Amino acid sequence: MQIHKAAVVGAGTMGAQIAQAMSQAGVPVILMDLEPENVRRGIETIRKIYQASVEKGKMRAAEAVEKSAWVVGATDYDGFRDRDIVVEAVFEEMEVKRKVFTALDAICPSRTIFASNTSSLSISALAAATRRPKQVIGMHFFNPVYAMKLVEVIPGLDSSSETVADVVALSERLRKIPIKVQECPGFVVNRLLMPYLNEAAFALQEGAASSAEIDEAMKEFGMPMGPFTLLDMIGVDIAEKVSYILYDAFGPRMPVAALFPELVKAKRLGKKSGAGVYRYDNEKDERMQKILQNIREGTGVVRTRFKPERLVLLMVNEAAICLQEGVATAGDLDLALVAGTGFPPEIGGPLHYADRIGLDTILTELQRYAKELGPRFWPAPILKRMVGAGHTGLKSRRGFFTY
Ligand SMILES: NC(=O)c1ccc[n+]([C@@H]2O[C@H](COP(=O)([O-])OP(=O)(O)OC[C@H]3O[C@@H](n4cnc5c(N)ncnc54)[C@H](O)[C@@H]3O)[C@@H](O)[C@H]2O)c1
Repeated sequence: MQIHKAAVVGAGTMGAQIAQAMSQAGVPVILMDLEPENVRRGIETIRKIYQASVEKGKMRAAEAVEKSAWVVGATDYDGFRDRDIVVEAVFEEMEVKRKVFTALDAICPSRTIFASNTSSLSISALAAATRRPKQVIGMHFFNPVYAMKLVEVIPGLDSSSETVADVVALSERLRKIPIKVQECPGFVVNRLLMPYLNEAAFALQEGAASSAEIDEAMKEFGMPMGPFTLLDMIGVDIAEKVSYILYDAFGPRMPVAALFPELVKAKRLGKKSGAGVYRYDNEKDERMQKILQNIREGTGVVRTRFKPERLVLLMVNEAAICLQEGVATAGDLDLALVAGTGFPPEIGGPLHYADRIGLDTILTELQRYAKELGPRFWPAPILKRMVGAGHTGLKSRRGFFTY
């Protein structure tokens, strides 16, 4: 089905930006929120995104006016009767979202696709709140939407192939890179990124290196910013919440570093609260040293070693487990990490990285770290199988990719 008209429910951080992306692609879109003030703010956000494009010379002023006119605000569902797709971006709470889906089901025509921008909730469970589970799907955008190319497209248990195809086509029209991901906790990007951020936190709390040293080393590896700068940007509370969801799903493979809850307890939520791992007021940071000291005394784990590989290996291993589970193809896993986290494009993603280093080396390193630091480094069974079969990567011309 060609998508002609869209709506977005929830005019917060994500909803407003998603509506902007639709309008830029020439798709008429209703931006709906229960709160009139949030609708107003959402429309203002859209205006500012267009204004920035004009100021950067990316768009003519007349074009910006013309495109922003594709968005109309609303505080009810009255205009939803002719929509082909509705993207839901309300609070990350199952009950709130299910109520929205049930209400949409009653008002929208039978053809309408419902896409959720949820970061962590089950698409299949949301679909079950409607009488059209075939047309319910995950469409996970990344913040800021205008800069982040990736969209994870997540079919639920009942989503039809037509729904998947329509949402992939719409994502491409929005000039995004859609990647099909099988439903699993954290989807691909958060499932691979969180172990990386957690490992950075473990290294810091164990005194392996300072936050600035770890950030610098990961930038040298090629990441666009260090893990702690990123953590402070995402919000320590958000990262903590996602980490617990992943721990709940995957167990000892994804323990939550004590640093996360300790920072949250100290109200250091990141840039938005004035301090996270870093302070943003140029004052000396004695509090952070105290927090780290307390964690060290509590866990008794000190003076481990830090090398960038320690963080990257966990991404490689989790990508291998995703591949093993059929969550996404090897190419899509790598593309998701490059487009969704800024993993160095010249390396090509964690699986290309592993092929280049050699899967035998990756396996040995993981085993060594598992002995030293625990089961979160336990190698994915697929790695052992591949090494046993001589599929060691670039040097044998067969690894996650063929050469
Ligand atoms: N913020 C991010 O970086 C990010 C990234 C990817 C995905 N997400 C996901 O996107 C969704 C929205 O997140 P956000 O950060 O934009 O939230 P937000 O809190 O900024 O905005 C949510 C909006 O939904 C509105 N809302 C709540 N209940 C509603 C209802 N019943 N009907 C209509 N509007 C309603 C609220 O008034 C609010 O304006 C969540 O599922 C979140 O997990 C967020």
